Amino acid sequence: GGGEHVPVLVIGTGYGGSVAALRLARAGVHVHMVEMGMSWDTPGSDGKIFANTTSPDARSYWLRTKTKQPLSNFFGFPIDRSIPRYTGILDAEDFSGITVYQGRGVGGGSLVNGGMAVTPRRENFGAVLPTVNADEMYSTYYPRANAGLGVGTVDPAWFDSADCYQYARVGRKQAQRSGFPFVFVPDVYDWDYMEKEAAGTVPKSALAGEILYGNNYGKKSLQKTYLAQAAATGNVTISPLHKVTSVSPASAGGYTVVIDQLRTDGSTEATKTVTADKVFFAAGSVGTSKLLTEFKATGRLPGLNDEIGKGWGDNGNVMCGRANHLWDPTGAVQSSIPCGGIDNWAAGGAFAEVAPLPTGIETFASFYLSITKNPNRAQFSWNAATGKVDLNWQASWKQPSIDMAKTIFDKINAKEGTIYRTDLFGVYKIWGDHLTYHPLGGAVLDRATDNYGRLHGYSGLYVIDGSLIPGNTSVNPFVTITALAERNIEKIITADL
Ligand code: FDA
Repeated sequence: GGGEHVPVLVIGTGYGGSVAALRLARAGVHVHMVEMGMSWDTPGSDGKIFANTTSPDARSYWLRTKTKQPLSNFFGFPIDRSIPRYTGILDAEDFSGITVYQGRGVGGGSLVNGGMAVTPRRENFGAVLPTVNADEMYSTYYPRANAGLGVGTVDPAWFDSADCYQYARVGRKQAQRSGFPFVFVPDVYDWDYMEKEAAGTVPKSALAGEILYGNNYGKKSLQKTYLAQAAATGNVTISPLHKVTSVSPASAGGYTVVIDQLRTDGSTEATKTVTADKVFFAAGSVGTSKLLTEFKATGRLPGLNDEIGKGWGDNGNVMCGRANHLWDPTGAVQSSIPCGGIDNWAAGGAFAEVAPLPTGIETFASFYLSITKNPNRAQFSWNAATGKVDLNWQASWKQPSIDMAKTIFDKINAKEGTIYRTDLFGVYKIWGDHLTYHPLGGAVLDRATDNYGRLHGYSGLYVIDGSLIPGNTSVNPFVTITALAERNIEKIITADL
């Protein structure tokens, strides 16, 4: 088609995009959301919308012919398998020094993530978003985000008795014996539903190991929260399997947006052009950074400033496993939804989620995803030879994260007389240091944009996702992404509409 005109076009349907869409729609503005992934509202031949973690299929990966599981090995054996190439839900996007996992589909990362919904400790906020008023965030926008997302915490009494949290109780006991505080981590999973799963009265989701490739029942993804409310206004249209490839100023004002409609094999079915008065970049840290870096370098948006593509970090993600003694079993059935963490941020720069290994068998393993204060920051750049955007993260830049995580796990191992697992990421490899789940930065607030996400150089262009945050949130990021989006869109609606 050609020439359709919309007042607001939002690129991406993750946290930032969903907040923008809901608040603009409630203000009476018609919003068109463009999402490269699928809508994830139709069951497959097995009757389920999403595939299980233990049996990945075509639905599981974005345009790959082989799975790329974050835990690549088990007892040293590679566990990846061939799958049909398809516009599946989890993208393992490879850059030269790091693989960045992201959700693809209506709901973005909320489709695939663990739902851990953590507000940073207030004393750490100044380092997370130095130019944002913390009083406003903690009095207004964090509470608004937590309410909008449906955040809750496990009932501690149920936690103490549930078989599916045996692994987390072992994690708590061992943390406390080494003198580390164990904290409950809130989540958007419906905790009442999980208790019913354990009681056997409803279909299982967390207790069936569902997480990485989508969750069929209990998780309150954005489809069930912000996007459902946005749809209820009648002012929001979503185009799934549509990928934005160009944004440039239109001669008559506003912006010309070029969009490829994708087939499920990734090929282009049609190319469409839309004109929009305002465009919100909400394609995620990597997605937005790639688009802006390309558009600046190739002359579509040459007036963007030199901060575009800078300040990217991995939230200090690093994974590891520990082997427990036979008297510390972690349970054959483990809830896929983590609910506790070990806080050694102030002393050691690490906050470690006690994570499940939902294999369905007893492994005597404890598994952790650590978020660390890694200081390294990478930059995106346009590679004219390949026609792609590169990221200059170096594999060796994870070493500070390993050192920080070791402040927790070396101590626990010494106290317990245990060792690291060396079979989960390869053969004799302790650290999962090749990946991140938490990309942040690339169009940093108050640098590439003003202090509310308005891109420098172009009125009517905004960034409203994780690319605004300069590389680290000290905890899992989506509550902060949501709260910052709530803050920014309120200002934009008041001042710019
Ligand atoms: P987000 O990535 O959510 O959304 C961007 C959307 O834009 C995607 O749907 C994408 O397909 C789309 N898009 C990109 N380019 C496009 C284009 N050119 N055209 C059209 N659409 C385009 N965080 C947390 O706080 N707690 C947790 O427990 C976890 N756990 C976790 C597990 C796993 C496996 C992953 C991969 C991630 C997490 N996260 C997490 C991270 C969290 O999911 C992430 O920080 C947010 O989803 C980022 O939100 P954004 O709004 O920035 O983008």
